Formats: sequence, C-alpha cells, structure tokens
Amino acid sequence: MLTGTYCIDLEYYLLVVTVLLVVLILRLIYSMVLKSVLSPQSISTASCLDIVIPDAMTPKDGRFGSGPSKFRIEAVQALVERSDGYLGTSHRYDTVRDVVRELRSGFKELFDLPEGYEVALGNGGSTAFWDAASFQLISKKSHHLSFGEFSAKFAVVTTAAPHLDNPSIARAEPGTVLPLTVPDGVDACCYPHNETSTGVSIQPQRVSGFEQTLMLVDATSAAGALRLDPETVDAYYFSPQKALSSDGGLWIALLSPAAIERIEDIAASGRWVPAFLNLKTALDNSRRNQTYNTPSLATLFCTAYQLNWLNRSGGLEWAAKRCERSSQILYDWIEASDLASAFVADPLMRSRVTVTIDFDDRVDAGVLCDVLRSNGIVDINSYRKLERNQIRVGTFPAVEPDDVAALTVCIDYALERLVV
Ligand SMILES: Cc1ncc(COP(=O)(O)O)c(C=O)c1O
Repeated sequence: MLTGTYCIDLEYYLLVVTVLLVVLILRLIYSMVLKSVLSPQSISTASCLDIVIPDAMTPKDGRFGSGPSKFRIEAVQALVERSDGYLGTSHRYDTVRDVVRELRSGFKELFDLPEGYEVALGNGGSTAFWDAASFQLISKKSHHLSFGEFSAKFAVVTTAAPHLDNPSIARAEPGTVLPLTVPDGVDACCYPHNETSTGVSIQPQRVSGFEQTLMLVDATSAAGALRLDPETVDAYYFSPQKALSSDGGLWIALLSPAAIERIEDIAASGRWVPAFLNLKTALDNSRRNQTYNTPSLATLFCTAYQLNWLNRSGGLEWAAKRCERSSQILYDWIEASDLASAFVADPLMRSRVTVTIDFDDRVDAGVLCDVLRSNGIVDINSYRKLERNQIRVGTFPAVEPDDVAALTVCIDYALERLVV
C-alpha cells in the first residue's frame, strides 16, 4: 500500500517536472524567435548589406570622414597637370619654394594675420608639433584642457617631458569641456579649437589678466573652417588633411611675436632639442620657403590649391558659413528624429565640422555605417575609442551641403529598413 502511494507520487512528480521543462524550452524558443524579429541588432550584417539605396538618393560624393577627409578632385587634376616640372624636383629650388611661399602668404590672407605673425611649417603633422612645442614653446609648465583623445595626447607629452614640471590638466567628461583658466605657474595653455574625437568646439580666447601666457591652440580640424581672431592665439597649428583637403604628414603653425620670442629664447638657453623638432630651425627654413627635411611635394601643392580655393571663394567667413550650413542640416535632422540625439548636449559647444550623433538602442550604429559604406558613403563611424553607439560626420568646406542633405535621406532610408 505504502509502495503504491509512493509510485503514484513519483509519477505525478515526474509529470510536473516534464511539463515545466517543456514550458521553459518553449518560452526560450519563443523569446529567441521574437527577439530576432524585433531587434535590429540581431539582423545579420550580411542581410543588412543587401540594402541598396537608390542612386538618385545618394550624395554625389560619399566621403564624410573627419580626417583624412574629402580631397577635391580639382586639386588632383591640377597636380597631374603640374606634375611635370614639379613632382620629383628638389625642394631647395623655386619650383617647390614658390608653392611654400604661396602657402605662407595664402594663410596670412585667410587668417588676416596681424603684423609680426609668421607662418612656419615642418614635417610630422600636429603630433610632431606637440613634441616640438613641449621643447620650445613651453618654458616650465603647461595647462591643458583635456576633453577628448587629441587634447589628452598633448597632455601625455608634457607629463612625460623630463625638462618640464608636471602639467596642470582640466579633464572634462567626453562631450563637454571645462572653462579656460590659467593656474599658478603656468606659461602656456593648450587646447584644441575643435576636439575631433568628440565634436566639441570652443572659441579660442585669452584669459584676462594672463595676456602674457602663451595660447597653443590645436587647430587640426578647425583651421580653414572655423572663425578665428588671430590675436587670441600664439601658436595655431594644424595638419592639412581636414579642412585643407590635402594629405597628412605636414604641420603648419601661425606663430605670434610672443611665440617667436619664446622659441628664440629657449633656443638660446641651451635646452637640448632634437634636431627634427627644433622650431627655431623650422622657422628659419620657413622664412626661406623651405622645410628642414624633404616634404611631400604633392601634399604641399594640394594644400596650396585648397587654400587658394578658400581665399577665392570668400575666405574664412565663407568657409565658416558653409560648414555652419552643412552641420545645421544634421542638427536639424537630429531634432526631427526620435532615434538620434546630439552627443554634445550644449548647442554652443557643438562642432560645425565634426558632428557627433548618438543613437538609442533600437539602432546599431556600426551596422548603419556598414550599410552606408556598402552604398558608397564612407567614414562616418564614431571615434573608435569613444565606444559609443554613435556616428560622426565631417562637414569640412570641401563637402557640399547638398551632399549632407542627401546623407540624411540615406540614413533615413537605411533606418527604415533596419529598425522594425
Ligand atoms: C584635433 C587633432 N589634433 C591632432 C591630431 C593629430 O594630427 P596628425 O595625425 O596629423 O598628427 C588630430 C588628428 O586627427 C586631430 O584631430
């Protein structure tokens, strides 16, 4: 009797367990199927790449990179026409020196440089200029506004420099920036005009009461696109692969009389400076329309070509307005979208040249970039180290505002198919 009851209980128990297991498995299968239908992230990239945007909708030029950025075909054609007698000739002769002369006078015109300001250039891009500045533009201690990858990198350079005191660093959360101040003992303030990695811009300025402190402003993604009062900067340095629509590897710096004096004083002080990074040598060579070592002649030529185009088109004001128009198309699009938001919360800090757009989790920004890339729209991925569900669009002067408008149409087209 006892044994019989025990058997019935066991059978009943096994039945309940089996039913529960079946329910659990069914639920699992159901949720997996449901997820694959509803979640855009689960759509395989391969099937997304089947999305074909009609040609009539796509931009004429699909390059929206934040650097290297769109290179104007006219510059390449002009280089081809000029190549005979220019490319492959010595940079110590007038054929090349005339282009450097044109560059130096073109920048004076573009920025309306005050008396005493000079344009210097050398090889190595803005990254090399950070090292050079740490030797000959900072006497003892620098202050850095660090609000993204590039501003942080300059602070790393001065922190490691054994001949300098530890810098003071005002670090801000990505997408924001702290106000510019001049802490005690600082002889140079360092910050970018436009932090390319986050899309935060600040207008170069001096701090009242500290007019003698050198302002070293990284203009790599700003020069030729954002307005500048040159009196507010002592070294405004950049590489030409962004607004200047050329290739990288070159640095160009607008130097104030105070910056030139600092370079000369430190050169005379006996501080050891690596020859390649010697700004006094670079300045002396620039005054002769040369560089210390062999430059890329194609880069020089294309930079000068773009510079002439900017000056002929209406100068810096024209370029700034064009970038405002292009970026505003994107900010208006964000405003109208329920999937996107501007990464930079403060509208006054939003970049006019590198627009950063966050998406909510119904969108996988990486898949969106892949779809657009497969349709000829390239390089709008967010800065890799930010690790956000974001895209970043370069709206430099070479980019046609109409192409930016077409880009928003293409993004909508892709999102309609990616987000169910
Ligand atoms: C703001 C800023 N600073 C510095 C750099 C470094 O420039 P380069 O690679 O020409 O040395 C970049 C490059 O993208 C940049 O965007």
